[in-house]
Amino acid sequence: MTTSANSQLAANVQGISKSFGDGGSRLQVLKRINLEVRQGDITMLVGPSGCGKTTLISIIAGTLDADEGELNVFGHDLRRMSTAAITRFRAHHIGFIFQTFNLIPTLTCAENVSVPLLIQGVAASKAEKRAREVLAQVGMGDFVKRRPSQLSGGQQQRVAIARALVHEPKLIICDEPTAALDAKNGHVVMELFESVARGSDRAVLIVTHDNRIFHHANRIASMDDGKIIEVHDVDEQHPVPRGLLHGEAL
Ligand SMILES: Nc1ncnc2c1ncn2[C@@H]1O[C@H](COP(=O)(O)OP(=O)(O)OP(=O)(O)O)[C@@H](O)[C@H]1O
Ligand SMILES: [Mg+2]
Repeated sequence: MTTSANSQLAANVQGISKSFGDGGSRLQVLKRINLEVRQGDITMLVGPSGCGKTTLISIIAGTLDADEGELNVFGHDLRRMSTAAITRFRAHHIGFIFQTFNLIPTLTCAENVSVPLLIQGVAASKAEKRAREVLAQVGMGDFVKRRPSQLSGGQQQRVAIARALVHEPKLIICDEPTAALDAKNGHVVMELFESVARGSDRAVLIVTHDNRIFHHANRIASMDDGKIIEVHDVDEQHPVPRGLLHGEAL
């Protein structure tokens, strides 16, 4: 795969397969997946529970290795990089929002959001200042000193989103980023993601069941049983399919 073929792609997934377990209990979760995540786009991944969405985005984020296939993220051949190189790449270029938030319980909100910057070697005071700015952007400016256990689910989700945005990564990958958010906060978060995707060489990849946010997508990939079954590019002539808006296949 040449670099030029990937020049406008944030992530290029070709023939990726993944199984879990051994012998009789072996389960093939991803079956030769192809997916192009374009720079400048919000790409959404939809499909029923258990179809492999989290597994696929974990592979794209470099936290899980595939069994076979090609994976190129911003021109980097992730499957041929060392673990240390992938860790460095992730720290600089990927912001990941976990389905279960994964905040560190002993740290305050501001400290949690500072972590990606500290990993990059930014001084603590500067990191915390930037963390407070991003927390304010997601409406959490009054909660910077709270710990995760003192927050509602939607508030924890917004701290997790701030942590994924704070170091301005090129690729933001989110697992159900609006599931715990009300309409107003869901809108604020999607506006932030849109401003990220509009950046010339950035992209947002979102797993979602939330039909309130589909209209923000440039591309919607539908998964079922470990396969991509349809890719729909959304534009004025091709709006979000009605079936999706009415909850089919979710
Ligand atoms: N580490 C693991 N070991 C064994 N099986 C796993 C593992 N991770 C996921 N699976 C299985 O792989 C399948 C796909 O899981 P995955 O989490 O990717 O689904 P999903 O589409 O994200 O579902 P949901 O919408 O419920 O989050 C499921 O059957 C799940 O039980
Ligand atoms: Mg999942």
